[in-house]
Amino acid sequence: MQTLNVALGERAYPIHIGENLLSSGDLLLPHLKRKQVAIVTNTTVAPLYLEKIAQPLRDAGVAVISVILPDGEQYKNSATLGLIYDALLQNRCERGTTLIALGGGVVGDLTGYAAATYLRGVPFIQVPTTLLAQVDSSVGGKTGINHPLGKNMIGAFYQPQVVLADTLTLDTLPDRELSAGLAEVIKYGLIRDADFFVWLEQNIGRLLVREPQALAYAIHRSCVNKAEVVAADERESGERALLNLGHTFGHAVENGMGYGVWLHGEAVAAGTMLAADLSRRMGWLSDNDILRMQKIFDTANLPTKAPALGIDVYLGLMGLDKKVVDGKVRLVLQQGIGKAVVTGDYPAQLLRETLQSIEHA
Ligand code: NAD
Ligand code: GLY
Repeated sequence: MQTLNVALGERAYPIHIGENLLSSGDLLLPHLKRKQVAIVTNTTVAPLYLEKIAQPLRDAGVAVISVILPDGEQYKNSATLGLIYDALLQNRCERGTTLIALGGGVVGDLTGYAAATYLRGVPFIQVPTTLLAQVDSSVGGKTGINHPLGKNMIGAFYQPQVVLADTLTLDTLPDRELSAGLAEVIKYGLIRDADFFVWLEQNIGRLLVREPQALAYAIHRSCVNKAEVVAADERESGERALLNLGHTFGHAVENGMGYGVWLHGEAVAAGTMLAADLSRRMGWLSDNDILRMQKIFDTANLPTKAPALGIDVYLGLMGLDKKVVDGKVRLVLQQGIGKAVVTGDYPAQLLRETLQSIEHA
């Protein structure tokens, strides 16, 4: 097991990464305020992993409630959040009850937001079971739900007590979901870790066949990157926004196509190529940089062409982004592989040309 720390002062917490961690009650018990937990998961993950985590807790005298949600991005909404509150109230859960998010990013974001708001805040623990959640969404305390008008528009910054990433859970993950997770792994290389990008170019095949050592390395290095960024800028007043590379375009794809049609990681990959196209038009990325990016996403079985929704639809959806300041859409653009900036200072005409290139592809 490898452990790293998210250095956030009194809100600091460990991330444990390793095999077979689910059944290690010992890693969870020290973080419980009282011996009651509510494990929030979904209909896909529950039959695979709920008992693995619940039984050792019960054996240690912990009262375990389970809340099983419908599965899918289309359920990351206020109605599903209501199901969590219903279960917590029906079971008279108190302020000392810990919520445990067992699942991918959807379960993690929903559970974290429920924890941030139930009784004005109860402790929560992240047990991510997708690659995407292990490398990104379980770390850093962004929680929330989608709104019909915009992705992740309602939420709170609320840090977990501990993150437990059991890499064995990835064995049951469908290939398409593994690839979606790789989009966020590749992101760290593109925004701030050029050496990691080179490692990924050389090792992407090992990740695709789920070689345990390669996966453990990629998850650990991703979490190191994420933890550093979050520790420097917890509430996204600066550097943290770089983690949104490809996301402004990507969120428009997810919403425009209907939540759940494109996976989040797929939309991020195609969105990252749009951001790269704009960066190239601004003279910040070379043709060779674009080719390297295209190749790694292709090899990871990720889409690099965004769907043709129409320029005005894109612009409308991109205008509903958390990075908008004074009505201006700020974008994460690249100034080379391993270097990104957040800027609202790009020619509007070049953005239109980038969006036009989708329609003409
Ligand atoms: P997801 O939660 O929908 O999980 C993907 C699918 O895999 C689901 O069907 C799920 O039930 C299934 N699954 C989960 N674990 C499994 C396992 N071990 N074996 C088999 N199937 C399994 O999607 P995701 O990619 O994990 O997360 C995407 C979500 O995360 C999006 O809503 C995105 O906005 C959010 N996100 C949040 C942050 C953040 O910082 N909070 C960062 C990135 C993404
Ligand atoms: N996934 C973006 C962030 O955590 O800031």
